[in-house]
Amino acid sequence: MKIFVTGGTGTIGTPVVAELLAHGHSVLALARSDASAQAVERAGAKALRGGLADLDILRAGAAQSDGVISLAFSRDYGSPEALAQGVAEENAALTTLGEALVGSDRPIVAVSGTPWIPGRASTEADPLPTGGPVGGRALTQTAFLGLASREVRPVSVRLPRTVHNEGQGGFAGLLTAEARRSGVAGYPGDGTQRWPAVHALDAAVLFRLVLESAPAGTAWHAVADEGDAVQDIAAVIGRRLNLPVRSVPEENFGPFGPIFAMDQPASSAHTRSALGWTPVHPGQLEDLEKLQP
Ligand SMILES: NC(=O)c1ccc[n+]([C@@H]2O[C@H](COP(=O)([O-])OP(=O)(O)OC[C@H]3O[C@@H](n4cnc5c(N)ncnc54)[C@H](OP(=O)(O)O)[C@@H]3O)[C@@H](O)[C@H]2O)c1
Repeated sequence: MKIFVTGGTGTIGTPVVAELLAHGHSVLALARSDASAQAVERAGAKALRGGLADLDILRAGAAQSDGVISLAFSRDYGSPEALAQGVAEENAALTTLGEALVGSDRPIVAVSGTPWIPGRASTEADPLPTGGPVGGRALTQTAFLGLASREVRPVSVRLPRTVHNEGQGGFAGLLTAEARRSGVAGYPGDGTQRWPAVHALDAAVLFRLVLESAPAGTAWHAVADEGDAVQDIAAVIGRRLNLPVRSVPEENFGPFGPIFAMDQPASSAHTRSALGWTPVHPGQLEDLEKLQP
C-alpha cells in the first residue's frame, strides 16, 4: 500500500516509516522543512512539502494514498496556551484527513495516550479521560473513531507516557531535560506513581499491524512496560547524569505537572493476543542506561 504519514521524522514516525518500507509499503511523508524532506527521502520515502496546518496539502496527501498514519503533533509543550494550540491543530488536521477518506474504506491510524484508571492498569476497553491539559486530544479521538460508520477504517493506537529510543523520548525524556536544566533528577510526589512505556521500534510494528488489519473503530495499547515507578526512572536519570535524585514540586514540570504526579499503569494484554504483537526491544529502565552526561 502507499501510505501517507504525518510526523514521519519524529521519535515514533522515523521507525514507523522504516517499518512500512521494510514490509513492502511505499510512503509519502509530510515534510515542513528542507531538513525533514531530506530525512524522509534518505529513509526511502517520498516527501510532500507542507505543514500540519496546510489542510489542502493534507487532503492531497490522503487522496493519493491507500491509507494514512497521523503522528504529527506540535513539539511546543511549554505553556498551557501552546499545548492548547497543538491540540487544536491536531484536531483540524485529523478531521481533514478522516473526512478525505470517507467513502473509500481506506485505513487511517491516529494516536492518543493510554487512559488512567484509579487502582488498576487501564485496558483497551477503557474510555479516554477528557479532562486535563490534553483532554481535547481524547475528544478528537472519539470523533475520529466515530468515522467508522462512514466507509472509512479509523483505528487508534494509544501510546504510553514514554515512547523511547536510545534513552530519549516521552515523559522520561522530559524528566531528563528538566534534570539537565535544573541540576536535580526530580520527580513529583512520592515517586511511587507508575508510568507505562514502549520502545519506539516495538511501537512501529504495532502501527503497521493495526494499519494492515485492525477493524474500524478500534483502539489498541502500544504498551511494553505496564508501569515503572517514577522514582526508579529518576534514579537511572540521576545516576547517568551524576545528579542528585529527589522529589520536587509538580509545578516544575509546567502544564504536564498534574499528569506527571498520577499513577497510570496500562495493560496491552488484548493487543498482544488479538494482533500477535510482541515487544522485543529494551524496556524503559534499560534504555535509559544509554543516557550520557
Ligand atoms: N514519544 C512519546 O513518548 C509519546 C507518548 C504519547 C503520545 N505521543 C504522540 O505520538 C505522536 C508522535 O510522537 P513523537 O514522539 O514521534 O513526536 P516528535 O518526536 O516530537 O515528532 C513530532 C513530529 O511531528 C512533526 N510535526 C510537528 N509539528 C508539525 C507541523 N506543524 N507540521 C508538520 N509536521 C509537524 C515533526 O516534524 P519536524 O521533524 O519537521 O519537526 C515530527 O515529525 C505525537 O502525536 C505524540 O503526541 C508520543
